[in-house]
Amino acid sequence: MSLGKIIDKKNNDLFKRIDQEKVPEHVAIIMDGNGRWATKKGLPRSFGHKRGVDVLKEILKASKKLGCKVLTVYAFSTENWARPTKEVDFLINLFNEVLRNEIDEIHEESIKLRFIGDLSPFPVTLKKIISSSESLTKNNNKFLLNVCVNYGGRQEIVKVAKELALKSSSGEIKPSEVNEELFNSELLTGGIKDPELLIRTSGEKRISNFLLWQLAYSEIYISDVLWPDFNEFEFLKAIIDFQSRNRRFGGIESLPNESFEDSQYSS
Ligand code: FPP
Repeated sequence: MSLGKIIDKKNNDLFKRIDQEKVPEHVAIIMDGNGRWATKKGLPRSFGHKRGVDVLKEILKASKKLGCKVLTVYAFSTENWARPTKEVDFLINLFNEVLRNEIDEIHEESIKLRFIGDLSPFPVTLKKIISSSESLTKNNNKFLLNVCVNYGGRQEIVKVAKELALKSSSGEIKPSEVNEELFNSELLTGGIKDPELLIRTSGEKRISNFLLWQLAYSEIYISDVLWPDFNEFEFLKAIIDFQSRNRRFGGIESLPNESFEDSQYSS
């Protein structure tokens, strides 16, 4: 049997163990370990990021096949500006290149693409291609891919607090009207359902300023595999592990799955 067939069989065997009734709608991923993967192989860090894009494509396909509806990935944090200029420039060029090469397929697959974060410091060329990709895919409703770039969870929370303070001082809302629902609707994720599952690769056990509000009740799965080695098999393992958890939300038994409405994720 060829290697490809063996891999397909391994994935199919794992796929059969998945309870279709308990597939998470929204999965968030901290794609970590690109640099270490490359360094271990004696390659420049950029090779890890390039390989990371292929893995993201594989996981996007796998999550669609499984019936997930939203994937939110951390591609560039507010802290990543501290990296050497060469690496930051490489990542910016990579985002450009990926969008140029993949946007047609993303659109054909009816995936809505959204970038979450403060885009203002990025070059105009990247901002333009992000904006055209978002508007091209804005009515797609099969799947939502959120890419977090120059994103920080604390910054997001402060931004919402400022907006609500402004609305309150202008009389648009009363301070007493500020509640979780209103706060949630002002977040950059725009009030979509919170991730049920957070996956972080490369063994690090931190949230690293990612979706601080939205991850309040998410199950956390840490994989020791570095992101460039992550694949459909490892993703399915994470889903099976998630399905074995007893999600109590501070209570004593799991809440029933809320039903998903496509319209929630379309514009
Ligand atoms: C973390 O590994 C990875 C990143 C900072 C970049 C991830 C970006 C991609 C996979 C490209 C995605 C592209 C699009 C358009 C969505 P690291 O460099 O922190 O690894 P290390 O911890 O081993 O140094």
